[in-house]
Amino acid sequence: MILEAITPLEQECNPRLAAEARFDEAALRLGLDDGVCKILRTPSRELTVYIPVQLDDGRIEVFTGYRVQHSIARGPAKGGIRYAPDVTLDEVRALAAWMTWKCAVVNIPFGGAKGGVVCDPALLSDSELERITRRYTAEILEFLGPESDVPAPDMNTNEQTMAWIMDTYSMHKRHTVNAVVTGKPYNLGGSRGRTEATGRGCLIVTMQALRRFGMDPSNTRVVIQGFGNVGGMAGKLMSRAGLKIIAVIEVDGAVYNPHGLDIPALMEHRKETGSILDFPEAENIDRREALFLECEILLPAAKENVITSRNADRIRARILCEGANGPTTAAADAILMEKNVFVIPDILANAGGVTVSYFEWVQDRQGFFWNEQLVNGRLEEIMVNSFRDVVAYADKHGVNNRIAAYMLALDRVAFAIKLRGIYA
Ligand SMILES: NC(=O)c1ccc[n+]([C@@H]2O[C@H](COP(=O)([O-])OP(=O)(O)OC[C@H]3O[C@@H](n4cnc5c(N)ncnc54)[C@H](O)[C@@H]3O)[C@@H](O)[C@H]2O)c1
Repeated sequence: MILEAITPLEQECNPRLAAEARFDEAALRLGLDDGVCKILRTPSRELTVYIPVQLDDGRIEVFTGYRVQHSIARGPAKGGIRYAPDVTLDEVRALAAWMTWKCAVVNIPFGGAKGGVVCDPALLSDSELERITRRYTAEILEFLGPESDVPAPDMNTNEQTMAWIMDTYSMHKRHTVNAVVTGKPYNLGGSRGRTEATGRGCLIVTMQALRRFGMDPSNTRVVIQGFGNVGGMAGKLMSRAGLKIIAVIEVDGAVYNPHGLDIPALMEHRKETGSILDFPEAENIDRREALFLECEILLPAAKENVITSRNADRIRARILCEGANGPTTAAADAILMEKNVFVIPDILANAGGVTVSYFEWVQDRQGFFWNEQLVNGRLEEIMVNSFRDVVAYADKHGVNNRIAAYMLALDRVAFAIKLRGIYA
């Protein structure tokens, strides 16, 4: 895309430019070596594949797929695969770099990768999706492997997709290799606690932030945008921990109860009616305004670019816990900082998912599976330590938490690169 041809808001919302803005600031503050910067600014490998698939009506269509490995400096490349009509190579590159930083922030031994297939899953049958997945896997097979690149679900892919990838890879290898993907069904080598992991991670870092400010969980009001895996699980666990979820925002509207919503009942209501709206003991409210309700915690858990330079000044939360990837633009960061909003950045707040993916990979490689208590205990330890690391970095360097998280991540990855040296 030619930058001159796009509006300032489009430019602000471009994921590559958003990631680069944070990278540049963190690298500058760290005084990172120019050469290392050059390495970290570019992906290490990228592959574009064209996927011929016979559709159910007999026609043949060719889909485009990508897999980008940003870095393997700290371990195998790790990152999800998304299916969407608007997937671009630029977006996949940015998301791959994001994974490198996320894995480094929580200090797990992975690099970063991302994949995507340009397709509209809403228009495809399950058998068409299976054929796309298997052929895409076959096309990128040389990239993949438990020691080299380990995909996971992302937008519009799920544990069934991971089962197809695992099976296709295993058929080529002539033996079952369940550690080649994470986010698998439990019976195929998935981990206990993976489904709740990202939401649980959000809860853990939120509780740490409340402790830091001496805030009482029972007087804490939470607004959640997106009631899917992350928002739903975070809401369920937060209400169980005594926080009050006063509003939930979805695509078709928002519901509000100043005394706190009954989250399991809201989930049941959505299952029965297909919507969160018209929930008994709650008021339907305007979804665009709900984001600006006064609250202690705002948890965007839907999509990117929700808080921008156009609306950041209207946020009335004390703490922003970013369940989604990239919900805040770089321009909005400055406004939130001025308003003294304590931001728990995405590469920390939603890293519970990749952390339990790491546990899944470890369990698969050992062929020895942990109970849920062990998974959750180890997740808590990693999230608490990572929160402390980021906040200590922010205090030490006088920067906001996001830049601190990037600095910490860049520092760790750069250290690994320097120790390993450049292979010539
Ligand atoms: N699932 C994970 O483990 C995980 C891990 C890390 C980050 N994330 C990120 O978290 C975000 C949500 O992921 P998820 O897995 O929960 O997805 P999901 O599809 O399960 O849920 C997303 C929900 O958001 C709703 N939504 C979409 N647009 C909205 C809008 N404009 N306003 C309000 N609601 C809207 C959808 O209807 C859906 O219910 C994404 O940014 C994803 O990349 C997910």
